[in-house]
Amino acid sequence: MSSMLVPDLTQTASCSAFRAGILHFLHDPGLAEQDSRALQAFSDGLLLVADGKVLAVGDYASLAPQLPAHCALQDLRGYWIMPGFIDTHSHYPQSEMLASPAPGLLPWLERYTFPTERQFADPRHARRVADFYLQQLLASGITTAAVYCTVHPASVDAFFEAAQARNLRMIAGKVLMDRHAPDFLLDAAQSGVEQSEALLQKWHGKGRALYAITPRFAPTSSPAQLQLAGELAARYPHVWVQTHLAENRDEIAWVQELFPHCRSYTDVYARYGLLNQRSILGHAIWLDANDRSLLAERQAILSHCPSSNLFLGSGLYDVQATLQAGVHTTLACDVGGGSAFSMLRTMHDAYTVARLSGCYLPALQMFYQATLGAARALKLDHLLGNFTPGKEADFIVLNPAATPLLHNRHARCQSIEEILFMLALLGDERAVVSTWAAGVLRHQQSAPALASL
Ligand code: GUN
Ligand code: ZN
Repeated sequence: MSSMLVPDLTQTASCSAFRAGILHFLHDPGLAEQDSRALQAFSDGLLLVADGKVLAVGDYASLAPQLPAHCALQDLRGYWIMPGFIDTHSHYPQSEMLASPAPGLLPWLERYTFPTERQFADPRHARRVADFYLQQLLASGITTAAVYCTVHPASVDAFFEAAQARNLRMIAGKVLMDRHAPDFLLDAAQSGVEQSEALLQKWHGKGRALYAITPRFAPTSSPAQLQLAGELAARYPHVWVQTHLAENRDEIAWVQELFPHCRSYTDVYARYGLLNQRSILGHAIWLDANDRSLLAERQAILSHCPSSNLFLGSGLYDVQATLQAGVHTTLACDVGGGSAFSMLRTMHDAYTVARLSGCYLPALQMFYQATLGAARALKLDHLLGNFTPGKEADFIVLNPAATPLLHNRHARCQSIEEILFMLALLGDERAVVSTWAAGVLRHQQSAPALASL
């Protein structure tokens, strides 16, 4: 970016400047790691932020002379600044049930998930867990997530209030579930969708809040509820839809029994008006070529949840087939099926899953999926995903030498790709020095685990 991008800084009320290594994506680097223009990196860079937005990014040497005296400069040399991570599938109510042992998805839901979600009938409990959840996200560098609440409308209020207190851009919604779950967690086809509409009207577009119509998955919504949810989505084309798709073989057999008139699980959502360019589909492991071409045609968003899929033994997501079919692929921690709040650990698992599927997943593709790729898939790239001037200044500061192991490995890195790969394979929240949302510091590591060797 050239220095010409810096507008007249004397006009800006609040201005902060950050000097560090800076990187962000301008394009999709692809799977073969061939497009070197996809990543823009400044080894000694400057990020300028004013009024919560990116004002300019570029080389320190070219931008620094234009900094006005009132602009506070933070010297973060030795660290890397990049856009905040975007996690496209997560359940905040499951924050305290990570690592709950069960031999697969359906028993896990019955034994742990449903009893845990029951507690969210209490709004104070919901707010406490929402605060905990958001602190964990920020500590791991996630600044935006697509989040399931519970069936209780107050769980949605609690979540958006907690997100608003931190000025975070979050997508969330009330779970719709009118059958095949314990009575204490069921809504009704009509009233559940009416509650969703009221919440959508209350929250969507308020501050940075965005709403997602959230039928949990096909087995727990009656055809009538799916139909009403699809009609709601048609009436509000700017809100998202989020649900689970083809995660587990027993689940898929169940869906086949419940919806014998549908060709496949993907087809269930298509038939009920729930498959569009704002549909975020969690897991999506067991798909065939017809499903993939339908998902590509609708421009739907797939959330790859590798940590959860490994933990629950659900299966191996085929990243190569998905990308080759032209379907948006994003990364997700899937708290609490996933075993960490960390996007870096999720990348580690995504890499492992790719290798087991015969695919090589370059670091650039993983970091793209966690930033600009997710913003594009979600149709939020006019607001988020990289440091194009005018975008919301959500960013993180990473320390590539945060632990003794990282420190020693970093010393041998010969390229930015190697640094990113090492962070994905060896990193976790200890590498996240600080997290900023709309230009404001929202998390700072209390005792940076800097190696002193
Ligand atoms: N399918 C339906 N509900 C859930 C859930 O809470 N977690 C996961 N991983 N899969 C689901
Ligand atoms: Zn989920």
